[in-house]
Amino acid sequence: MTATQNADPMDQFREWFGEAEKREPGDANAMTVATAGPEGRPSARMVLLKGFDARGFVFYTNLGSRKSEELAANPYASLLFHWKSLERQVRIEGPVEPVTDAEADEYFATRSRLSQIGAWASKQSRPLNSRFELERKVARFAAKFHVGKVPRPDFWSGFRVIPERIEFWQAEEFRLHNRHVYHRSGDGWRTEILYP
Ligand SMILES: Cc1cc2nc3c(=O)[nH]c(=O)nc-3n(C[C@H](O)[C@H](O)[C@H](O)COP(=O)(O)O)c2cc1C
Repeated sequence: MTATQNADPMDQFREWFGEAEKREPGDANAMTVATAGPEGRPSARMVLLKGFDARGFVFYTNLGSRKSEELAANPYASLLFHWKSLERQVRIEGPVEPVTDAEADEYFATRSRLSQIGAWASKQSRPLNSRFELERKVARFAAKFHVGKVPRPDFWSGFRVIPERIEFWQAEEFRLHNRHVYHRSGDGWRTEILYP
C-alpha cells in the first residue's frame, strides 16, 4: 500500500489512476456521482471523469438532467471509483462548481460528431415517447449541422467537484483493509487513517 506516501492527495490520485488505466479492463475513468436535491434524498449514477488537477474532478452532462437539477439546488457531490482489478476504491466529497464555457467548448470539440449530435438530440432524463422520436431528432440535427462544425448546446456543460475529503482504500488480507483519508485544511491537507 502506497497511499500514505504522497502528501498531496492529487498526486496520490494521479498515481492510482495511472495504475488503473493500465490494469482495469473497462473504463478506468468511470465513476459514480452521488447528488441530493433539496430534500436531501441521495441519487447516484455513473459518469466519466474527463479531467482532474489541483482544482478538482470534472465530468460533463446535460444541464437539464436530474443530476444537474439536484446540483443546482444543492451544489455538493460525492464521487466514487472502484477499480476491481486493483482492489481499490477512492471516495471524493466536496462542493461543485460549473466549468467555464471555454472549458466546456474545448472538451465538446473533442467528442465524436455523432456524440455531439446526440447531445443536441437528448433531453436527458426527460420522458421519451418512443425510441423512434429520439432517432428522428438525431436525424434532424444531423441534417441541420450537415457537414459544418457542431457547436456545444447551451444546455450541455460540465461540473467540477472540488475535493474537501478524499479517501484511498486498499484491500488487505483478512479484511484488514487500509484506509487513508485527506481532509482539506487551510491551504494544505490533514491526513488520518481509519479502522477498516
Ligand atoms: C460507464 C458509464 C458512463 C457514463 N458517463 C456519463 C457521462 O459522462 N455523462 C452523463 O451525462 N451520463 C453518463 N452516463 C449515463 C448516466 O449514468 C445517467 O444515465 C445519465 O447521466 C442520467 O442521469 P440523471 O438522470 O441522474 O441525471 C454514463 C453511464 C455509464 C454506465
